Amino acid sequence: MRKQIIFGEPSIGKEEINYISKVVRSKWIGSGQVTEKFEKKFKIYKNSKYALSVNSCTAALHLSLIYCGIKRNDEVITTPMTFASTINSIAMVGAKPILADIDPETFNINPKNIEKKITKKTKAILIVHLAGLPCDLNKILKIAKKYKLKIIEDCAHAIESKYNNKHVGNFGNTGCFSFYSTKNLTTGEGGMIICKDKNIYKKLRIARLHGLSKDAWKRYLPESVKKKQFEHYDVSEIGFKYNMIDINAAMGIVQLNKIQKHWKIRQSLFNLYKKKLVGLPLKFQKINFKNVKHAYHLFLLVIDNKRTKKKRDNLISFLNKNNIGAGINYRTVTDMTVYRKKYGWTNNTCPHSKYLGDNTLSLPIHPKVTKKEALYICEKIKQFFKK
Ligand SMILES: Cc1ncc(COP(=O)(O)O)c(C=O)c1O
Repeated sequence: MRKQIIFGEPSIGKEEINYISKVVRSKWIGSGQVTEKFEKKFKIYKNSKYALSVNSCTAALHLSLIYCGIKRNDEVITTPMTFASTINSIAMVGAKPILADIDPETFNINPKNIEKKITKKTKAILIVHLAGLPCDLNKILKIAKKYKLKIIEDCAHAIESKYNNKHVGNFGNTGCFSFYSTKNLTTGEGGMIICKDKNIYKKLRIARLHGLSKDAWKRYLPESVKKKQFEHYDVSEIGFKYNMIDINAAMGIVQLNKIQKHWKIRQSLFNLYKKKLVGLPLKFQKINFKNVKHAYHLFLLVIDNKRTKKKRDNLISFLNKNNIGAGINYRTVTDMTVYRKKYGWTNNTCPHSKYLGDNTLSLPIHPKVTKKEALYICEKIKQFFKK
């Protein structure tokens, strides 16, 4: 029997295992020097002013909203084509998520719809670079400037993405990254916030670890214990338990060294899928600007209902039967029970997102997928539409 092609298999090698083992065997496994080293490396890679590690992108979004000053009853405009944590983080600060429908070609938030949703209560725009394709940043930045709004970039899919030669995450007030198990760079669980404002950075740094005065953990490092004078810490904020630890950071450092190599493999799989699936009743995400770098985190297919009666869920079952994993990124957030109850969203709130959410699926696009496997996946999709 053919081996299962996993949808989001991480690419972890001996180097990651060796570095993690080194940390585990050392005297320090919590937040420490390895975590700081990872932050420095990430900051250099992203060409950003500050980088602060956390234990998830959800934590990064939550902290960003708080320290961008978003409060109870404020409104934050965001996309309906995203994962729950984008919406949840807005709800967590007591603000109201206001949806601006996507562009049906790029699947990213449509700037025209953003402007229509602005009210006196609007304080921020939370954008998602879906699948790794940068949003229409020029237009979004102009809107933010005109209405004095904060921008938070959800870069969970967009570690490698660039817009006009500049890394995404550097355009907004903060950029939030995910290192969850299926992401282009994984630490198992983890995240990073990048920003350019020193004050925000300082506040985020304290808030991510209980609100303890700066670097309180350093007091326990083996070299600090030798100091003659014991130092106390202060609690200066009501903080969170959002810190990354050295075990995870060790994995992140090695993964970051491989980022370009892995990106190239993803790029060739992306191009192969696009080439081999032409002629089928499918649509793909349109890369509509010249000067962008796609992170190729996801390869999204959309069934074109005008050209076929075949259903997305049946295609997923068919692929699964043939040992091919597939994902859905995403069903529109307007379909989810809790948001329908809380915000009154319906099938008509964001029609483009509803269509995409009902008809899209994602193919495996990680570095462990071989060319032979990708061709097999394409053959099976063709077979499904011929049946
Ligand atoms: C668009 C988007 N935002 C945020 C997140 C949350 O990331 P994390 O699991 O690191 O909290 C995800 C995770 O898949 C995501 O896809």
